[in-house]
Amino acid sequence: MYTPVFTSGVWLADVNEAEHNDELCLWSNVLEQLLQHPKVLDTMNVPDAAGGRALSSVHLAGQMDLLKLLKVRETRLGHWLLYQLYDAAKALGFDKTRDIRKFKFHRVWANEMSKGCEAVAHRHASRDWVIPHMVAIFYVDVPANGADLVFLDEDGDEMRLGSLTSFSLSQQYRLQSRRGRLICHDAKQLHATTIHESDLPRRCIIIEVGFPPK
Ligand SMILES: [Fe+2]
Repeated sequence: MYTPVFTSGVWLADVNEAEHNDELCLWSNVLEQLLQHPKVLDTMNVPDAAGGRALSSVHLAGQMDLLKLLKVRETRLGHWLLYQLYDAAKALGFDKTRDIRKFKFHRVWANEMSKGCEAVAHRHASRDWVIPHMVAIFYVDVPANGADLVFLDEDGDEMRLGSLTSFSLSQQYRLQSRRGRLICHDAKQLHATTIHESDLPRRCIIIEVGFPPK
């Protein structure tokens, strides 16, 4: 579903949790194991994280095909996700200049937030970057009081800014994170998260997508 946010919009879709529960549990297990790997545990917080421990496999994105590990191309949940990426790209208008049938996965990684952690304001691409065009976030484990995603109304081009508290409420558009929810946005769109307030972890998959010219 296209959701207007400030002067543009984002794509939001919820998978049928009951229908895909087994697959969501499998994906949760894959992410949990991946994020407990020494190559992840030995790495410091990613620069976007503040206030608490965040685990991320972003530094392994070039060496490891997470979509293959999750069997995205062979499962119903994976097919749902890929079709949603296409619908999102169309809704966000990338089809006007790009061949959105040909995804180029730029980086794909998993992220885990622990209690007290937040993502500071950041974007995934600057104005003059060629890729990525779109970012997809798929939430696999979201406990009650998990961190929510907040889009920010800001015209600059800085890749990273401060915590959410440095922005006025009128600059914020909050979307609840929940298990089985997909949110796709323009890679240039500034966003942050609220503070993760649960003792249980919040895990998601982040997919940066590029599209070749038409
Ligand atoms: Fe992000």
